[in-house]
Amino acid sequence: MKIALVGGTGDIGTGFAVRWAANHEIIIGSRKADKAIESAEAVNKLLVNGSVRGTDNGSAIASADVVVLCVPYEHLVSVTRDLAASYKSQLVISPVVPMIYNGKFFQFTPPAEGSAALQAKSMLPDGMKIISAFHTICAAALQAKDRELKADAFICGDEPEAIDTVVGLAQEIKSLRPLKAGPLAASAMVESLTPMLLNVARRNKIKDAGIAIVSER
Ligand SMILES: NC(=O)c1ccc[n+]([C@@H]2O[C@H](COP(=O)([O-])OP(=O)(O)OC[C@H]3O[C@@H](n4cnc5c(N)ncnc54)[C@H](OP(=O)(O)O)[C@@H]3O)[C@@H](O)[C@H]2O)c1
Repeated sequence: MKIALVGGTGDIGTGFAVRWAANHEIIIGSRKADKAIESAEAVNKLLVNGSVRGTDNGSAIASADVVVLCVPYEHLVSVTRDLAASYKSQLVISPVVPMIYNGKFFQFTPPAEGSAALQAKSMLPDGMKIISAFHTICAAALQAKDRELKADAFICGDEPEAIDTVVGLAQEIKSLRPLKAGPLAASAMVESLTPMLLNVARRNKIKDAGIAIVSER
């Protein structure tokens, strides 16, 4: 697949590029094409025969089958509504977490739509498939190409085929277990796990924390 990483010059985008480049054509997007090209070169240095490329966000989206929104929540509007003309029929994946640090702890701050994923859907052309996933995956762990993640990736979405595509992408990341977590309307519950995880990690000094569901049977 051709996968556009919008804002892929940042932490989580770099992690996805490193993990998916072996099987897919990765296009790093940025507000500035030059910055994206530099990031792509840096990622290619980490890979054997890397062919990751970089361009501006709009061009990256327009040439992709799958778009991952790799920007902080406060820039969700600029990479969805403002670039809506670049979207056609791509599958859009949102790992975006609306949260703030209020001086004492990380706090979930969902928009009126209920979640970042539902807000993204409301700003994209009608009929686009949106999947919410990867919110609790640590970018630093993703970037360490050979590291086993030992975590679960919770996936919310409404279209079974789109969910299967994202399940497949998660399975390409060493030891990461994809778990279906409900329709897109349930995304708020998954997004809200990230501030909880960061609060726990910080207070208990857990580096590169993740979440895994255990079975007591
Ligand atoms: N970091 C993690 O461990 C992690 C884990 C799970 C989920 N997430 C989610 O993934 C998303 C990205 O997180 P991140 O840590 O990768 O973010 P980040 O590194 O802080 O930023 C990602 C990119 O956002 C772009 N950006 C910055 N200001 C912008 C603006 N005004 N308009 C448009 N784009 C702008 C920048 O790209 P350009 O300057 O190249 O345009 C930047 O490289 C967030 O929503 C976060 O909640 C992160």
